[in-house]
Amino acid sequence: MQRMRCLALATTLTTVRRAAAWSSACAPGPGRPAVRRAATSSADSPAAPHDPSKPRSSRLRQHLNPLSQRWRTPIVLAHDYYDKMFAAPEHPLWLDIGSAKGGFAIDVATARGEINILGLEIRPEAVKFALDRLARRGGPPNVAFLQCNANVDLDSTLAPLADAATGEVPRLERVLLQFPDPHFKRRHRKRRVIDGLLVHTVAARLPQGGDICLTSDILEVAVELRAAFRAAKGFNEMRDDGGSGAGWLAANTVGVPTEREVAVENNGLPVYRCRFVRNGEPVAADTIAVVDQAITDLRRFEKSPNPP
Ligand SMILES: C[S@@+](CC[C@H](N)C(=O)[O-])C[C@H]1O[C@@H](n2cnc3c(N)ncnc32)[C@H](O)[C@@H]1O
Repeated sequence: MQRMRCLALATTLTTVRRAAAWSSACAPGPGRPAVRRAATSSADSPAAPHDPSKPRSSRLRQHLNPLSQRWRTPIVLAHDYYDKMFAAPEHPLWLDIGSAKGGFAIDVATARGEINILGLEIRPEAVKFALDRLARRGGPPNVAFLQCNANVDLDSTLAPLADAATGEVPRLERVLLQFPDPHFKRRHRKRRVIDGLLVHTVAARLPQGGDICLTSDILEVAVELRAAFRAAKGFNEMRDDGGSGAGWLAANTVGVPTEREVAVENNGLPVYRCRFVRNGEPVAADTIAVVDQAITDLRRFEKSPNPP
């Protein structure tokens, strides 16, 4: 059965109010048990009544399968959906792919009132959490969240904002793909967000000078993210090691850490960051195939007990 996709929108109080009427079609099904979730600060935890039959940490599933048919039905967006989301839709846009509970996007929007930031998140419960958080804080008005599968819906999210002649989205300034993968286990790697279609969409929609910031705490995942954008024509990799080191950036480009980043760094673990800027080269027709092949080649090495 075709599932109803819920668009969770929030920027103005109007849209926050709309979010309060968030469709039960997006709630987790009765047969889909929740799993343990990461702790959040008590200030941001919604005051839901506690079901004593369940552990307190069961409110938010950590991940779901983006390959399941349920999450592969494309969303349908009104042509003016974006204008209704933001008070100043003409402002530069940052896209946060895998925005989870929204803390990062809300922090960035608070710090950078001159941009709009749109979080794309596949888990309806996480989007609801982000919207509740936003409503409790009363804004800011320059952040919104959309429940969608970035592997399916990224292009249709950007298409209504595109210039008809070039296909680019002139206001798109930055794409963020940070700790995108709960599916870091090898047996689940086909569920990872990065693929040729996503890279092609970013290349086609991001105007020259716009950038994509990639971050992971899993080296294998970070290498894959970087290899995908290295394989695609149209991007210049920004390095801060003069070409002498491993190529990972020392610091977070945005200056605002994500929730995952804080947790990882608090545990003294490494974070791998890289950044690519869109250059003036046209999008190559074979981008999807070339990037998918680069990913396949890397994964072939992952199987080897002695990767090069
Ligand atoms: C590990 S969390 C990181 C969240 C946040 N970016 C951070 O750094 O704190 C990854 C998020 O990406 C989301 N995600 C995974 N695959 C996705 C997809 N195909 N489309 C949209 N969101 C996705 C997950 O549901 C999860 O919330």
